[in-house]
Amino acid sequence: MSCFDAKNASVSTEILKVEAVVIGAGPGGYVAGIRLGQLGKKALVIEKASPGGVCLNVGCIPSKALIHAAKLYAEAGQSADIGIQVDNLRLDVARLQKWKESLVGKLTSGVKQLLKANGCDYRQGTATLLSPRTVRLVPPDSTDEFLVETENVIIATGARPVVIPSLPFDGNRIVDSTGALDFDEIPRNLVVVGAGYIGMEIGTLYAKFGSKVTFVEALPTILPGSDPECVQVVARKAKKLGMEILLGAKAKALHDEGGKASLSVETGNGMVELPADKILVAVGRRPNIEDIGLEIAGVKTAGGFITVDRQMRTNVPNIFAIGDVAGQPMLAHKASREAEVAAEVIAGKNAEMDARVIPAVVFTDPEIASAGLTADEAQKRGHETKTGKFPFSALGRAMANHDTDGFCKVIMDTGSGDVLGIHVVGQGAGDIISEAALAIEMGAAAEDLGLTIHPHPTLPEAIMEAAKAARGEAVHILNR
Ligand code: NAI
Repeated sequence: MSCFDAKNASVSTEILKVEAVVIGAGPGGYVAGIRLGQLGKKALVIEKASPGGVCLNVGCIPSKALIHAAKLYAEAGQSADIGIQVDNLRLDVARLQKWKESLVGKLTSGVKQLLKANGCDYRQGTATLLSPRTVRLVPPDSTDEFLVETENVIIATGARPVVIPSLPFDGNRIVDSTGALDFDEIPRNLVVVGAGYIGMEIGTLYAKFGSKVTFVEALPTILPGSDPECVQVVARKAKKLGMEILLGAKAKALHDEGGKASLSVETGNGMVELPADKILVAVGRRPNIEDIGLEIAGVKTAGGFITVDRQMRTNVPNIFAIGDVAGQPMLAHKASREAEVAAEVIAGKNAEMDARVIPAVVFTDPEIASAGLTADEAQKRGHETKTGKFPFSALGRAMANHDTDGFCKVIMDTGSGDVLGIHVVGQGAGDIISEAALAIEMGAAAEDLGLTIHPHPTLPEAIMEAAKAARGEAVHILNR
């Protein structure tokens, strides 16, 4: 009897032997599985939910689908000034959700196919470490369990939303991001607790669909991790879209009676009561490090994350950790790169995580994207800096696209001329930023960016112009 074709077995006595078990199939785990397969390693990826993890199933992809739809909907309703008149604009939420689900279905089945095509096994089930070299696998809805003996383990179990004890998720009134991407109607009043990445992205999309959106943010700013000047542009647009932002505010208690609900919020000006059909709580995410047998295997953690070295190796030499469980920033693309490193190390290659920059994008309106240091961070590290800035309002393509909010900023080391950081706020910022990441990764100087011929008319010209501006050589704005 083999481990995996056993039907109705109780506890399998036969042990499957592999060279690597990957626990979790998000953008960390499935990429690790693919890379291990490519490198000829006999690997097994175990996932308790659906392949693709949070990102493909209930995070990055479905949120971007709804953000795209909300953008089209809002623009269709507001394009009379460029000659596009839309009567009877309507939103079919059921159809929208169906489209979103079909995308997710395509991508998740694609992940399974990719794993298979690369020679990596995939199993649905819950995995727990019984020792550094033994993993228990319990398939869903089963009392059976199977044992897998492995030379290496990669832990890629991701993260989950932080719960506010006084506002626990109930899947109905109080939802996390997963619930908020699954509404079957557009809430009239949506209160978003936490104006970080998730809250701002989802709040903005519902504002465009017509919800009255109010943010309750504990800090004195929205998007606390982002460049403050970029944040100002997003805050201005949020106001234009009718969103209300309560800063320095704390959500206290939900009152839910007779089908009507409201949230009491403590603000600097006293208590306010916010009507709330739905409340999205997005106050951060916490790594999934419990219930996977870390203690039994002797894996060390610190500050809620699994401790790893630059090869993604934990203190237990044959156990690796990647993605959200292995430290900040909790971003899909960082997880995928770490996955490649861990797989290559397991395959005997001399790989390590040596990225100079991990770009980040907030998909708000407009988007904020950054690669490298802010001017403040650069100065704290001892750099003398010059900043070149180019506004989208001076960019032909942005004007033609009927959206000129935002700018691009290049932070340059004054002495060497090297690019230290690039920050973009504006339409398409998320797509523009890859050039910035490549430039910093390759050690480019601002002059290199300025001398690189950019196709006209395109949005990335903003990077070229901002790089020139840092040297006092911008063409389409006055140099100060
Ligand atoms: P976050 O850390 O970005 O923002 C949470 C916000 O909640 C902060 O502004 C914080 O001050 C506020 N907050 C905390 N406790 C609060 C309270 N009791 N009342 C009011 N406000 C409170 O966390 P978020 O948005 O949940 O996202 C988690 C992570 O997921 C991000 O750090 C990011 O790494 C990742 N993510 C990335 C995305 C992307 O790359 N576009 C999109 C969404 C999430």
